Order: sequence, then structure tokens, then C-alpha cells
Amino acid sequence: MTHKNILVVDDEAKMQRILEIVLRQMGHSVTCAGDGREALTILEQAHFDLVVTDMKMPRLDGVGLLRALRGQGSDIPVIMITAFATVETAVEAMKEGASDYIIRPFKNEVVVNAVQRALKMSQIQSQNRFLKNELDSEWNEFVGESRPMQGVYQAIRQVAPTNASVFIHGETGAGKELAARGIHKASGRSGLFVPVNCAAIPEEMLESQLFGYKKGAFTGAHKDHVGKFELADEGTLFLDEITEMPLNLQSKLLRVLQENQVEKLGSNQPVNIDVRIIAASNRDPLQAVEEKILREDLYYRLNVFSLVLPPLRDREADIALLAHHFLEQKAARLGRPVPRLSAPAIARLSAYHWPGNVRELENVIERALILCTGDTVEPDSLLTGGSAPSQPEEETDSGASLALQPQVEQLERQLIVEALAQADNNKSVAARKLEVSERTLWYKIKKYGLGRESG
Ligand SMILES: Nc1ncnc2c1ncn2[C@@H]1O[C@H](COP(=O)(O)OP(=O)(O)OP(=O)(O)O)[C@@H](O)[C@H]1O
Ligand SMILES: [Mg+2]
Repeated sequence: MTHKNILVVDDEAKMQRILEIVLRQMGHSVTCAGDGREALTILEQAHFDLVVTDMKMPRLDGVGLLRALRGQGSDIPVIMITAFATVETAVEAMKEGASDYIIRPFKNEVVVNAVQRALKMSQIQSQNRFLKNELDSEWNEFVGESRPMQGVYQAIRQVAPTNASVFIHGETGAGKELAARGIHKASGRSGLFVPVNCAAIPEEMLESQLFGYKKGAFTGAHKDHVGKFELADEGTLFLDEITEMPLNLQSKLLRVLQENQVEKLGSNQPVNIDVRIIAASNRDPLQAVEEKILREDLYYRLNVFSLVLPPLRDREADIALLAHHFLEQKAARLGRPVPRLSAPAIARLSAYHWPGNVRELENVIERALILCTGDTVEPDSLLTGGSAPSQPEEETDSGASLALQPQVEQLERQLIVEALAQADNNKSVAARKLEVSERTLWYKIKKYGLGRESG
């Protein structure tokens, strides 16, 4: 073991001397303190790898020192030296995070062994932490330390290297795509991550987009086209909003997955492919199977592993972290200093129910940054949708925010509500009024959560 810095804490000069000699013989540097308080002062000033402390000392005793260190968040290993009479206290101290205890009087080799063990343990722990951070930093772009998210990270780490199909379920804006990208990155697959939004591509184009086509396969096929499957060869195909895929295409998809072969439209030469599939939906997949919009056989083929992303309202601990993260990110982009969030602002964010989840929070913060001119974000610049209880009416159209997307979305939502009302909730009539396809309308209805009110 390499040379380490060790702090010996004991009020008896003779004891200090003995320990110092033993530890120096092991090749370590030794500093001595006379009691717990002195030890804390010394520990603040320099880096130490291990503390060896007596239990009974004036001012601050060994257990007090241990508690103070753990209270400061320090995880430095601590070995207790105890007289036989106080062994029980030493055992208690182990429960509070001491590494080991040594009973006085001791043989030198007992000290040597305990020190070696404690240093080895601590080295392994910090290596583990380092490796874990290293591994995570390569794939994990999530912000959030809440328990539900720890579960998500754990699941991603586990499933990533298996190449199993994954079905991701979660509300809109909860991070399904971020999770899918994470799985791809952590998988080490050499190919591309290819996302396909099954709801956004017009039905008649989806098949040719997925499988590709040969020149002349249909009117308008002027040249060969590589499909998403081929593009994702040796990589990952992310089928977003899978429940919006037409049923006949779902059966073709199933066949491709079973045979690991695709055939371009207009060609009868199957091509072998090696593609990992991740599917996602904000509908409950089993319910979608029941409603017959998701084929049961396809569902079982895709749902080898299922990953659920918890809604933001169920991980309140992450809200403030995410808000700070987005403030920093957006402020940096605008070249502005990062404002603080006032305590009432945090309280307001934490109390809101976030139907649009993290994406909605991101939008709210973006707007707040534009509305906020000082160094602190107050609740009145947090425009959390129409349903926030404490939002003053006139703020919505104050005109102060120039962020395009939320405004456009708000207008789009209003127009859809109006068209549906005028069309007596008849979707195809409403779609015609809006000059969009019925499919696009369905997609937007879902996106804005208009489904329930409008039938
Ligand atoms: N935990 C998180 N930390 C940081 N950013 C996040 C987190 N979760 C989501 N985001 C960000 O929020 C936005 C929405 O996430 P994403 O697109 O993954 O959601 P989604 O579940 O796929 O949404 P939709 O159902 O609408 O497709 C993205 O900009 C993403 O980067
Ligand atoms: Mg998505």
C-alpha cells in the first residue's frame, strides 16, 4: 500500500508515541492531535486518509469526533481505540460508521492489520464511486436523485448491455426518449440511435420510412431509399408512440423482429439486420392491447423488459434540482448570470402537478428567465399553465415572454379546442377546419391532453 496521511488522536502522549512509531514503520505519515476538537481543526487544514482515535478524551471524545465528521459529510475511515471497559461503546460507534476498533492493550500487529484493512476498504469504496460515476457520466443525462429515478438508472444499467427489447411507458415529457438514448449509449452498440415517431409520420409514409424502398416501388419513388431499420443496423431503433402505428404495419413489424430481416418495398431480397428495439408510449400498453390498438403478440415481443418513467409530481425532490439545472443551462445560453429561485418560487414549483412533466418545467423556467429581470426568480414569473392555483389571470397575456414554442403551443391548443367545439367534437370535421390530417389532430389532442374533455 502506498504512503498515506494518518491522524492519531489521543490525550496520552505515550499512546501517541506508540501509534506514531507503528504507523511510520508501515510507511505512512503521521500527525497527532490531543483531543477531538484539535483533530477537527487539523482535518480542516489538510487532507488525511485515516483517523485513529482514542475513545475517552477531554473536550471532544472519539465518538463525538466520529459524529462530527459524519455530520460534515466526511467519509474518512475512523478506527477507535478503546479500553476493555468501553468495548460496548466502540461497538456502538461501528454502527455510526467507524471502520474498526482496537482493544487496549494491543499488540502492534493488531494495529497494522486494522489500518491495512481500513485503508483497503476505503480505497475500494472510492474506486467503486469513481467507476460508477465514470460509467454513468457516459450515458446518464438525467438530472434527479429521487428514489424513483435511482430505480430508473439502475434499470437502465441492467438492461442496456442485454440487447433485449425494451418498452418504455411514461407520461408526456417524463423523459422516455432520454431513457431510450441512455440505454443505447450504455449498451455499447456500435451503430446509430435512430428515433422514429410513429404518430408524427403520416400513415401512408410510415412503412416506406421504416423499411425503405427501391426506385420505382411506387409513384414518387425516384431513387432507392434506405429505411430506418437499415439505418439502425448494429444500433438501436426507437419506436416512439408505438401505439399509433397502424395495425397492419404492426404485424409487418413483428415479422421483421422475428426474422431479423427487412425487405425494401419493391424488392424481394431480404437483408439481414441486427437492430435493438426500444418502443415507447404514453398510453398504458396493456390497456392499448385491450383497446386493440396495440397487437398483443407485438407487445409481448417488445416488452421483454419494461421501464416505467415516473411522472414529475411523484418525484418532488427532483423539482428544485431540475429547475436549477434548467436555469443554469438557459442562462448560460443567454450569456446571463444565473438567478436564484426564491423559497416561495420553489414552493410554488413543488406544489404544481406538472401534467407536461419535465418538458413543461423546462418551458416554465425558460419563460421565467425572460420575465425575471433581477437576480431572483419570484413566483410571479413562473407561469405554470392555466391550472396553477395561484396564477394571476392577466399574466398569461402580459406579452413579456418572447419564447416562441410555448406561445405557439398555446395558440395551437386554443385553435384545436375551438375547431372541436365548432365541429361538435367530430374529429374529421375538426381536422378539415384546421387543414391537418385526422391523424395529426389525434396526435395533438393527445399531446395537449384534450382527449378526455373532448371525448
Ligand atoms: N430527468 C431529466 N433531467 C434533465 N432533463 C430531462 C429529464 N427528463 C426529461 N428531460 C428533458 O425534458 C424534455 C422531455 O424529455 P423526453 O423527450 O425524453 O420526454 P418524453 O417522455 O419522450 O416525452 P413525449 O412523451 O412528449 O415524447 C427533453 O428536453 C429532455 O431532455
Ligand atoms: Mg418522446
